[in-house]
Amino acid sequence: MVGETMCRDLSKFTPIFLLLVLSGLLFLLRNIQSLEKLNSKTVSAFYHLQNTSPMDSTMRAAHPVRSDWDQSYCGSLGLRPSPEEAAEERYLLESIAWPQPPGPPIPLLKSSDPAHSFFTIRRTGRGWHVGDQLEVWVQMRDFEGQPKHHGGDFLLARLHSPELGGGVVGHVVDHQNGSYSVLFWLPWKGQAYVTITMVHSSEAVQVLKRLREEHPDRIYFKSLFRSGPFSETTICNLCLPPHQPLCNYTNPHTGEPWFCYKPKLLSCDMRVNHAKGGYQKNLLTSKEELLFQSNVNIKVSVPASGPDHITVLPKSKAKPEKAKSGAVKFVPSGFYYNHMWQTTSGVPLRQFNTTRAVTRCLGGKFVHIFGDSTARQWFEYLSSYVPGLKEFNVNSPKKVGPFLSVDSVHNIMLKYRCHGPPIRFSTVATSQLRYVADELEALAGGRDTVIMVSVWSHFSTFPVEVYIRRLRAIRGAILRLLQRAPDTVVVVRTGNPQALDPVISLYNSDWFSMQLHGVLRAMFWGLNVVLVDAWEMTVAHHLPHDLHPPPAIIKNMIDVILSHVCPEKN
Ligand SMILES: *[C@@H]1O[C@H](CO)[C@@H](O)[C@H](O)[C@H]1NC(C)=O
Ligand SMILES: *[C@@H]1O[C@H](CO)[C@@H](O)[C@H](O)[C@H]1NC(C)=O
Ligand SMILES: *[C@@H]1O[C@H](CO)[C@@H](O)[C@H](O)[C@H]1NC(C)=O
Repeated sequence: MVGETMCRDLSKFTPIFLLLVLSGLLFLLRNIQSLEKLNSKTVSAFYHLQNTSPMDSTMRAAHPVRSDWDQSYCGSLGLRPSPEEAAEERYLLESIAWPQPPGPPIPLLKSSDPAHSFFTIRRTGRGWHVGDQLEVWVQMRDFEGQPKHHGGDFLLARLHSPELGGGVVGHVVDHQNGSYSVLFWLPWKGQAYVTITMVHSSEAVQVLKRLREEHPDRIYFKSLFRSGPFSETTICNLCLPPHQPLCNYTNPHTGEPWFCYKPKLLSCDMRVNHAKGGYQKNLLTSKEELLFQSNVNIKVSVPASGPDHITVLPKSKAKPEKAKSGAVKFVPSGFYYNHMWQTTSGVPLRQFNTTRAVTRCLGGKFVHIFGDSTARQWFEYLSSYVPGLKEFNVNSPKKVGPFLSVDSVHNIMLKYRCHGPPIRFSTVATSQLRYVADELEALAGGRDTVIMVSVWSHFSTFPVEVYIRRLRAIRGAILRLLQRAPDTVVVVRTGNPQALDPVISLYNSDWFSMQLHGVLRAMFWGLNVVLVDAWEMTVAHHLPHDLHPPPAIIKNMIDVILSHVCPEKN
């Protein structure tokens, strides 16, 4: 009885109460709106409101960077792998394991110095013939000229013959005592030069490993939320510390996690877009910074002690020397000769040198290209090379897509779409933010369908498990596609080395890309897909490394792909 009276009494005030609440709410919204218009550097109030960490480097400068990525809540995100998947993951991680240094971090003077190090060509009694193996010995030394006694330096090796247009990668074996063997397979005859490059010292690799474990959020993301006139921007990532409410955008099919902080006033389904937020700064101590110096210890060549070249003789009639038991025999994916890539396995390669040849091959085909900007290069190359292909302006943002190009005379359709988060493109509309695996499920496939996938660069800041999970989802979708349409040509591209400086090294080092390359090759090995080994095609080439390999290399990739789409008839 008492309660009922109180209710009735209070109800008199309801309209006033509602009015108060509403005006308060409006005031709050107006303030947030105007705050958002201000320059991000001057607005600490808005960020304060957000209370999130990786907003702006200017905010972080005052404090040493603290990682918000904690395995205790990041490790358990997403679908749990099955026992087979977990076993594969362990195997893959083991296969790319990198040696630990024996002790605590050492000063620059004791770290590996390519200028003091040297390589020597191991002579053999019978010289070298095509098809033989060349062994090169590398001794690493520190800045004081003392030999190193542990391994872990990241070296790249190349054998090349400039006047023959020849190039091939070498396989580096780490003896874990400061010396390395490099094995080259000799595909052509003539003079061939050895180049050994130290990409990073073992000491620098340890720093990169630490960054990958402790700061996977060193590149961060953001999303805009909007409803009518109101908008808010929040931080997003694969994993966020849960000190605020989260929006959970975990992919329901693949179980791959993605989160944004929930906007204060708008709801999670009002997310309009996804974009790269920025880079965390001040990741290194001043001592660590010394390990990343251009022209000193980032991608510097190791000099030869003695001759740096050999003369390869024609294939010997005699039986090749019997390999010592336990000796590694290395066969690369391919090599350049006369500037043309030849693969060591698979179908014989054809050259698609004329627009007519490319048009004839692609006539009647639907080509779906998925992935990062290195996949987009294929779209751009074909779209501009084939005269009949006309790019449709579908009002897509530049460099982001999706893109469509059509040749209605020869019935060719070419499409490009970027991969899902953590894509680092400028701004991708939520409606266009799709996972490659989901897109593949939606394709019928068939003999007129060509699928090309390149997904790697935007995973370099994360633990390798994240990449394994992404590839597992894509591989599953590819295998189902090949079940329902076995004639579909599926092409998968690995990562490639790029130009590195002290800053880029921390986010996109070749060391990260090389590890992802190893994982991808192992996961797609033996499947009915065309593997484009962009790693070897870039390391073996004479042009400087570039995140987006130059047209000469893209042309060779297209030759590899089209040779599988349109194999030589005989
Ligand atoms: C390093 O290890 C290799 C392979 O076991 C060996 O041949 C070489 O002599 C060792 N070098 C030194 C300096 O101990
Ligand atoms: C996010 O959603 C996925 C699936 O919808 C669920 O499995 C997961 O537990 C959720 N994560 C959090 C932190 O809420
Ligand atoms: C294609 O071009 C290359 C280099 O220009 C040339 O060496 C090769 O013979 C050409 N191939 C064909 C099939 O025309």
